Amino acid sequence: MRTALQLTAVAMVLLAIPANGARVVSLAEALVAPTAQAQAPDAADVAEGMRLYLQKGDCQACHGWAADGRKMDSQMPDGSNLRETKLDRARLIMTIKCGRPGTGMPAFDKFAYSDGRCYGMKQADLKSPMPDPPATFQQREVELLVDFLLLKVVGKGPMDRAKCIDYWGSDVEACKEFK
Ligand code: HEC
Repeated sequence: MRTALQLTAVAMVLLAIPANGARVVSLAEALVAPTAQAQAPDAADVAEGMRLYLQKGDCQACHGWAADGRKMDSQMPDGSNLRETKLDRARLIMTIKCGRPGTGMPAFDKFAYSDGRCYGMKQADLKSPMPDPPATFQQREVELLVDFLLLKVVGKGPMDRAKCIDYWGSDVEACKEFK
């Protein structure tokens, strides 16, 4: 039996789908989503968030694999130490989707600065063009990435050997620098 509340949730999710149909939300997914969000992310989701951080989003190029600001690519802008960020979940999501105008932080929402969704600004309001992001993310990918950051990075203190082994799932080469 579906409750009125669930049906309202479905209706809201359906209304939230952009007209261009960037993402198709199945009815089942819409019904499951409200409960899934309340639970701790499972291991597969955390692994996916980490993959988005390291690979698809290439955040590590500027922020370092440990997100501590030790960037992997010396040609890239200096990304901040995300282990020490004071941003909460909502602000992390906003920063990833919208980037930060006037800095090297790219926007990962394909439609950022197209319709005012980012800080109420459009392309013409930007003093300088945003850098191209390594990839663009769907909302679900941003959520997974932020789940990962909040679980493994933000407020976790400097990387050390034990955290490194936990981070990679084993005592990999990258952990050798931590005695
Ligand atoms: C091309 C380089 C680059 C890439 C790629 C990049 N960032 Fe950034 N990021 C920056 C820079 C530079 C800043 C600092 C902005 C500033 O000076 O305020 C920043 C800032 C941030 C902040 C704000 C931190 C704070 O406390 O204010 C967050 C969160 C963040 N980045 C997350 C990410 C994530 C997640 C990814 C990957 C999806 C990513 N960044 C990819 C360069 C990058």
